[in-house]
Amino acid sequence: MAITTSPRGTADVFGENLQNWLKLERQIRAICRTYGYQELRTPMFEHTELFQRGIGETTDIVEKEMYTFTDRGGRSITLRPEGTAPVVRAYLEHKMGQGPLPVKLFYLGPMFRYERPQAGRYRQFHQFGLEVLGSADPLLDVETILLPVELYKACGLKGFVVELNSIGCSVCRPRYREELKEYIRPHLNEMCRSCQGRFERNPLRLLDCKIESCRAVLADAPLITDYLCPECSQHFAQVRSYLDLLQVEYKLNPKLVRGFDYYTRTVFEVTFAGLGAQNAIGAGGRYDGLVEEVGGSPTPAVGFAVGVERLLLALESEGSFAAEPPRPAGFIVQFGGETKVRAAQLMYELRRAGLHVEMDHLDRSVRAQMKAANRMNARWVLILGEEELAAQQVKLKNMDLGTEELVDLDAVIQCMQVEEE
Ligand code: HAM
Repeated sequence: MAITTSPRGTADVFGENLQNWLKLERQIRAICRTYGYQELRTPMFEHTELFQRGIGETTDIVEKEMYTFTDRGGRSITLRPEGTAPVVRAYLEHKMGQGPLPVKLFYLGPMFRYERPQAGRYRQFHQFGLEVLGSADPLLDVETILLPVELYKACGLKGFVVELNSIGCSVCRPRYREELKEYIRPHLNEMCRSCQGRFERNPLRLLDCKIESCRAVLADAPLITDYLCPECSQHFAQVRSYLDLLQVEYKLNPKLVRGFDYYTRTVFEVTFAGLGAQNAIGAGGRYDGLVEEVGGSPTPAVGFAVGVERLLLALESEGSFAAEPPRPAGFIVQFGGETKVRAAQLMYELRRAGLHVEMDHLDRSVRAQMKAANRMNARWVLILGEEELAAQQVKLKNMDLGTEELVDLDAVIQCMQVEEE
């Protein structure tokens, strides 16, 4: 194992890529402010039981994808594979439900899943998510769809599709489950091993299988939307009419199910075709039973999460999001000896005044220093030779305009700041 390589499924973020991340984070924070979401930062790890109970024992995530370990105190700890269960835990721990409702929270940070890494799928990845707790208003289901859509649009993304479904509640889903099982049972031996394994425990997940023979079996399967109870049916109708009102485009997909047990009613997924197999750039839904499952009183809630890496990949593929690389305000070229000493003093004075200024630290020739300034794309080059120093001046070159002038050393700040503004 090479210790100069990061663990499989993880990545360093730096350089241009980091600039894109920072730009996206700025967009995220701006949109959350406009929509009234407060940031919540939960720990990277939680008690394992939170996810077992919250996400569901028979889900892929809990069965085979969690980073779980016993800490030195003998507790079972899990690196968070997602953000919803931790938010619910924090909501209960800090009694947020006793304040004004609904509680609207967002988070941005790393998640961990032991999945087979491939393009767009990592073991450490990042999510921007939001959760609204304390209201069953279908308008909030719509808000959690609208917000990512507005974010994608603000970033310039075009080719994405919102798929929408309702998977009912604990009243109507059990009957559908049985109907679905009845339909599948005679064909079970035509289905893949994974579907056969899930059939008893989690038959809805079979609808999600990508294997052709399984899809063929399910082509005429009964649809959950035909089994919704009147309350769920009405809720779903309201979600759709608000989406229409707000002109959010979506595609109904009555076979859309999600890999978490906590969902009730609305589920949705945003896909971007250009990404290949891992094409979901965000997903979410309503989870009216989760707060109770984690130990609180019944509390309706809804939320979504965007995969940051996947969104950036999608943006990159459309070529619509390159962040401007940062540019130093100035680079001081000096001639060694006293000029270097004065240049150093000047550099820190300018930095103290809020200007990003660089100088050479490798004893390079004047020519090489000029090259370095060009490579960094500095706006100004400040040339400090013996003659300039004797006159307490510096030659200030504007690299964009190609102009230059001699400026008194104590007036440099003003000249550069005027230009910066
Ligand atoms: P999720 O569908 O598991 O939902 O993840 C949301 C998004 O995270 C995915 O659409 C995808 O963009 C990204 N993602 C998931 N796994 C990976 C991975 N291994 N590598 C890269 N990106 C990945 C949730 O996590 C729910 N907690 C969403 C939610 C919030 N539902 C209600 N509130």
